[in-house]
Amino acid sequence: MKPRIIITGVAGFIGSNLADFLIHKGYQVVGIDNLSYGLESQIPEGVEFHKVDILSPEIFNIIKKDDVIFHLAAKNCISDCQQDPVETAHINVTGTVNVFEAARKNDAKKVIYAESSALYEGDSSLPSIEETINPESFYAVSKLAGMAFAEAYTRYYGLKTTALRYFCAYGPRQDYRRTIPPVMSAFILKLMHGEQPTIYGDGTKRRDFVHVDDINEFHLMCIEDQKTDNEVFNLGSGVSHSVNDILAITKELLNSNIEAVHADDMPGEALETLANINKAKAIGWEPKVDLREGLKSFVKYYQENEIPWPA
Ligand SMILES: NC(=O)c1ccc[n+]([C@@H]2O[C@H](COP(=O)([O-])OP(=O)(O)OC[C@H]3O[C@@H](n4cnc5c(N)ncnc54)[C@H](O)[C@@H]3O)[C@@H](O)[C@H]2O)c1
Repeated sequence: MKPRIIITGVAGFIGSNLADFLIHKGYQVVGIDNLSYGLESQIPEGVEFHKVDILSPEIFNIIKKDDVIFHLAAKNCISDCQQDPVETAHINVTGTVNVFEAARKNDAKKVIYAESSALYEGDSSLPSIEETINPESFYAVSKLAGMAFAEAYTRYYGLKTTALRYFCAYGPRQDYRRTIPPVMSAFILKLMHGEQPTIYGDGTKRRDFVHVDDINEFHLMCIEDQKTDNEVFNLGSGVSHSVNDILAITKELLNSNIEAVHADDMPGEALETLANINKAKAIGWEPKVDLREGLKSFVKYYQENEIPWPA
């Protein structure tokens, strides 16, 4: 029998895509989000939605025996986390422990939780492997604390967990409202509205972009394949592309000749992120979405869905 699925952060980018994907696979999906950042309009039809904070005792009444929980809710934006380390710890550490505790007390089957490639930010050896982390920012250390708690829950209570280190995830419903939005949504929306996109630095920084559809295939394995239990996996594409490449492809797809403006480099940003994905591949996962095809469908999404502008 398929387990019931709980998704925290269901109104956000990855959570809403995951909910959609699992509903189409026939799973019963229960979503939790306090809507502090996510949008209720993004929650797919068919989700049993609870507007609840992950810090609240109410989550103990929502999570039931044998549920599989995807814990995605978090304070996310690195610069926001730098401004407010206390709130970062509150949501990303205490909130995460509250989710683990609700899972343990209610005999949930498993917790799959979101870490981040930010755990590699202080380590320049590439491609990044799961064993070598060096988190520096408040956001990254909050994810490290979540990881340590997950390991302790497994050690002392036998709670099954899987940690997922997403690299730069992209696709429909990607956040576009941050002061500095992710590069793809920023470029597409600016060009679509006839505005000049901004490149921070000279555009040679490289990122490992992974499509949300590929991530969802691994999410499914986390539910169905015991080889994912109590392990951590990098989820990237294993290839990096420069910011200049992304702009060039986006311009071509939109048939645009608008030039970018350049702004100062953002401090602390890595020159390149690149995942070693051998561990996930060894258990049968393979990212399939080609970057150009992924960007093409992302552009189509924005063309077909009205986004309030300016964001
Ligand atoms: N998107 C990426 O490329 C990426 C990369 C690395 C890691 N991650 C991690 O993956 C997870 C999902 O990322 P995303 O891009 O979908 O983020 P998102 O910001 O789009 O979604 C996060 C959701 O969590 C909700 N939330 C925040 N605080 C909450 C609280 N206290 N209680 C209940 N809900 C709360 C927000 O309202 C939002 O809907 C996060 O943990 C993030 O750190 C994402």
